[in-house]
Amino acid sequence: MADAASRSRGARVVLLGPPGAGKGTQGQVLCQHLGVPAISTGDMLREAVAEGTPLGNKVQGIMASGALVDDATMADVVRERLAKPDARRGYLLDGYPRTLPQAETLAGILRDAAQELDAVLLVDVPEDELVRRTLLRGRGDDKEDVIRERLRVYREKTAPLIGYYRERGLLREIDGNRPVEDVTAGMLGLFGAGREVSSEVNNEVAGA
Ligand code: AP5
Repeated sequence: MADAASRSRGARVVLLGPPGAGKGTQGQVLCQHLGVPAISTGDMLREAVAEGTPLGNKVQGIMASGALVDDATMADVVRERLAKPDARRGYLLDGYPRTLPQAETLAGILRDAAQELDAVLLVDVPEDELVRRTLLRGRGDDKEDVIRERLRVYREKTAPLIGYYRERGLLREIDGNRPVEDVTAGMLGLFGAGREVSSEVNNEVAGA
């Protein structure tokens, strides 16, 4: 597990949790504290869709339906992104891996680079609250039937990763059903920092 020194030496952390749990929200803050880039596969795919790239054209319909993009496509996306210089000292992965084959791909990437994960942070929130939050946000895929499908896919394909990472001693569980700042403080506490850093970094992000 990384500690306060992680800010200077980097860290490799995965954010795990259902749609709407606050992974993206917390990722923005935590990456500042850890001094590593937050890499959201959802954001990367949405960017590709907005730019109309071949990848974007391929995944647009899949994302709109709430299904997952296939593992081979995601392996290419993530391999290329993690090879960039800014990821050399570490990264905060948001939205990857979300299937067991993706977890094995990540394990292979880490093995090839003689690296290890520091932690997998599971942010959990009751289902009714997830639906409430995502409907309020109103992103393109935040329609109730699509949200319910994303939650179903999460339970079927992604939830097994909880056991996978628990067995490897990497899982840390965070109650995400609290105000944003309390969730941040809980996460930073795992990395040896507390509420003061949480307010400081949340303010920086809000003012950015
Ligand atoms: P992705 O973008 O990863 O979506 P997701 O996992 O469904 O997660 P969200 O972005 O909906 O939620 P979040 O946990 O980040 O919450 P957020 O901070 O935004 O993926 C989208 C699609 O891309 C997938 O469905 C799939 O098709 C494809 N895809 C991506 N990665 C893939 C992969 N690896 N393999 C295959 N396909 C892939 O917060 C949500 C809302 O709640 C916000 O409005 C926020 O302000 C609010 N909020 C946050 N925290 C709190 C709090 N504590 N209290 C109150 N409100 C809060």
